[in-house]
Amino acid sequence: MRLFLKTSLLSLLFQQASFVLSTAIYDSIDVAVIGAGLSGLTAARDLLDAGKSVIVLEARNRVGGKVYGKPLADGGVTEVGAEFVGPTQDKVLGMISDLGLQTFQTYSQGRSVLWRNDTRHLFTPDPELGGAPLVHPSSLVQITNAQAQLDEWAAELNTSAPWIHPQAEKWDSQTFDAFISQNANHSDARFMLTTACKAIFAAEPKELSLLYVLAYVAAAGNESTTGTLSRLIATKDGAQESRVIGGTGLIPQRLADVGYDVRSRAGTIIAKNVVLAMSPPLLRQIIFKPALPLPRQKLNEQTKMPALGKGIAIYEPAFWRSTENLSAQVNSDAGSVRVTFDSTPDDASFGAILGFILGDEIRTIDKLSVVEGESRIISDYVRYYGKQAANVTEFVLFRWDLEEWSRGGPVAVAPPRVLTKYGSALRQSAAGLHFAGTETSEYWTGYMDGAIRSGERVAQEILRSS
Ligand SMILES: Cc1cc2nc3c(=O)[nH]c(=O)nc-3n(C[C@H](O)[C@H](O)[C@H](O)COP(=O)(O)OP(=O)(O)OC[C@H]3O[C@@H](n4cnc5c(N)ncnc54)[C@H](O)[C@@H]3O)c2cc1C
Ligand SMILES: *[C@@H]1O[C@H](CO)[C@@H](O)[C@H](O)[C@H]1NC(C)=O
Ligand SMILES: *[C@@H]1O[C@H](CO)[C@@H](O)[C@H](O)[C@H]1NC(C)=O
Ligand SMILES: *[C@@H]1O[C@H](CO)[C@@H](O)[C@H](O)[C@H]1NC(C)=O
Ligand SMILES: *[C@@H]1O[C@H](CO)[C@@H](O)[C@H](O)[C@H]1NC(C)=O
Ligand SMILES: *[C@@H]1O[C@H](CO)[C@@H](O)[C@H](O)[C@H]1NC(C)=O
Ligand SMILES: *[C@@H]1O[C@H](CO)[C@@H](O)[C@H](O)[C@H]1NC(C)=O
Repeated sequence: MRLFLKTSLLSLLFQQASFVLSTAIYDSIDVAVIGAGLSGLTAARDLLDAGKSVIVLEARNRVGGKVYGKPLADGGVTEVGAEFVGPTQDKVLGMISDLGLQTFQTYSQGRSVLWRNDTRHLFTPDPELGGAPLVHPSSLVQITNAQAQLDEWAAELNTSAPWIHPQAEKWDSQTFDAFISQNANHSDARFMLTTACKAIFAAEPKELSLLYVLAYVAAAGNESTTGTLSRLIATKDGAQESRVIGGTGLIPQRLADVGYDVRSRAGTIIAKNVVLAMSPPLLRQIIFKPALPLPRQKLNEQTKMPALGKGIAIYEPAFWRSTENLSAQVNSDAGSVRVTFDSTPDDASFGAILGFILGDEIRTIDKLSVVEGESRIISDYVRYYGKQAANVTEFVLFRWDLEEWSRGGPVAVAPPRVLTKYGSALRQSAAGLHFAGTETSEYWTGYMDGAIRSGERVAQEILRSS
């Protein structure tokens, strides 16, 4: 099996500081790991601990993949990729503590903003309703029922193989949009479920298979805790509950900072096993000879990276906390940014509002210059948080869908008729090739936690087979 990587610079990147140029041929390496995201770095760690020789190849000039702490001009960093962790994400919480890092609670005190029908509403989320906003009571019933139905079906799935459920074909033949239409015909209910879908997947409901959504809900738990939709959505008791002091970027940095060789421009590498630690659609940028098994190729072709960006506005103080007692959480039916969070660091050395730019909205922003994109997003923040929101000290617009080595995020998703046909190829190794990446995880697929789980699984797979 030969792999041809179209990367211009292949680097074994364990210490970014000291590059050693080399065109050497590495012979008899036990494992070559392609991709230095959390899944690849975790696999490398476990294989090295077990005494294997490992080389990690990374296309970017940094580790971390979709976890990235971007330095700010005036000091500090901001998380342009993964940011939050929460309960039942045992692996990432364990890794954070093993690496000597600490978490703090996501700021969610005060009132939320609902922007709907050209009107700004302020409200205190009702914890009894899972933080549900003020919408028409009949739509609230529909939202609650739809959520209960999704949770009930998800609980029936085997998270290792959602496609073997008796109803799998039926669920996989419809979109999530069809489910919403059938279960939530009130326009406010439709709005809330669509917003939730976009906030979770960065995809429009019509882009997703219902079975895929159910499998994702099922995976939002651990071996002893059944996954639920509210755990995906919630701040308190959910996936957005906590953040890492100093930023999540410290996780891959510390994981990689173990003092290995650094080389770039790798020539030919001969390895007994290869770990492919990236999203399935990214594998299409690698030439495999002989070709990958057909089901695997189809999986790589038919899963999609959703279009996703983050727009982070930096302010001197986190003014929304004191002026109007706001949590900086918004649900909106208009504008480029329709979901926001408070992204201020733990020490509040500056204030930050992060906005997710999701699906169709980022596709529009992609057509604009950075400056135009930024000014549209800032005008959204002024609408939600008042005139002071125009007074940014710095603005970071990060468009993951334009990144050659990510092509979107947070995770590759499946439209109808992909999981039932090719889902079983997700973790299927082939001729010394082993597949990691958050997509392959049975729990918290799509998240840092799932990436770590996948790295551990693939290392075990290799250690068992050798
Ligand atoms: C905006 C955003 C917000 C998110 N928010 C959260 C969050 O709050 N909490 C959470 O837990 N998760 C979040 N996620 C998801 C999380 O970032 C991912 O699930 C996780 O980082 C995936 O890790 P991975 O190792 O599977 O893949 P990646 O991080 O994508 O790593 C793959 C690596 O492979 C490299 N690569 C690709 N192609 C090649 C090639 N041909 N040759 C060599 N190298 C290659 C890439 O450069 C990359 O470094 C978010 C993601 C995004 C984009
Ligand atoms: C799963 O999550 C629950 C709830 O947070 C926790 O009590 C438990 O220790 C976790 N891990 C496992 C393996 O069950
Ligand atoms: C802020 O809002 C929350 C929720 O509405 C409320 O409990 C709290 O008392 C408010 N704080 C101030 C200072 O008004
Ligand atoms: C918004 O407008 C729609 C259609 O006119 C209406 O059904 C809905 O109740 C309105 N929602 C709110 C929160 O005002
Ligand atoms: C779930 O599916 C996997 C893979 O097909 C299988 O090995 C396992 O036994 C199943 N678990 C249950 C509880 O049915
Ligand atoms: C919406 O759904 C409810 C219950 O499913 C139904 O009674 C009602 O007729 C539907 N309304 C419309 C406009 O389709
Ligand atoms: C803008 O922010 C600066 C601090 O960065 C502050 O001194 C100034 O008063 C702010 N202006 C407005 C209009 O809020």
